[in-house]
Amino acid sequence: MSALETARGWLQQARRLCVLTGAGMSAESGVPTFRDALGGLWARYDPQQLATEAGFRADPQLVWDWYAARREGVARAEPNAGHRALADWQARHPGRLSLVTQNVDDLHQRAGSSDVICLHGALFANRWLDACRHLPAGAEAEDTRRAEPGRPPRCGVCGNLVRPGVVWFGEALPGQALQAAEDAAGDCDLMLVVGTAGAVYPAAGLPALARQAQARVVIINPAPSELDGLAHLVIRAKAAEALPPLLA
Ligand code: OAD
Repeated sequence: MSALETARGWLQQARRLCVLTGAGMSAESGVPTFRDALGGLWARYDPQQLATEAGFRADPQLVWDWYAARREGVARAEPNAGHRALADWQARHPGRLSLVTQNVDDLHQRAGSSDVICLHGALFANRWLDACRHLPAGAEAEDTRRAEPGRPPRCGVCGNLVRPGVVWFGEALPGQALQAAEDAAGDCDLMLVVGTAGAVYPAAGLPALARQAQARVVIINPAPSELDGLAHLVIRAKAAEALPPLLA
């Protein structure tokens, strides 16, 4: 029996499915990954400069422009067959899928997935760098719509800067999302780990949580990942190739 057929059998038996996705999920949509040697963002750019608060404070315009370029790239991208297969499965099996993503693109949502648990924030979201001290009474602390245009936009009163609403290195994950992801990992019978190198925690710790809870863990990745050792099964394939037949 092929790995895909074995996984299909496990899926049919599963009461609850948890899917953890990483950058490889969106690779076939043309969105670059981070750690692939060819074309990975961190092979070409310095994450300390572009994905830390200190990097943003040191050169806000450089970081803002880099995220603006990534936003343009993702806006042009379309969900691939893997994103659509997950959304279709969720629609056919209401209440049985928890979809947890490390991706900051919106391709799962545009494919039709709902209640996506976003561990690393959202590329198209903005928030204040610091608590803005001059917001009018009643304004939401995170509402950046009054910022004056610029690169990055800034508060016209206190000069506070707008930053992308993604999680940078050294920052805590959004608490609610992390809790929801841990609950989902601890309450599934089957976890699919799709397109992640498994190098960034706490996201990379979720498959171990699922295993502790007696779930089967299946990896879909064309290359080895740091999580292969704890998987029951590895499907060596691309997300957009493996997910449609697996979830059909
Ligand atoms: P990585 O770039 O570290 O890993 C991408 C993984 O996807 C690798 O294991 C590839 O082999 C695999 N891959 C490549 N093409 C694929 C395809 N077509 N189908 C399936 N898999 C494929 O990305 P992540 O593991 O998601 O964090 O990285 C985790 C976090 O590190 C990101 O969320 C980001 C980054 O720094 C933040 O920005 C906070």
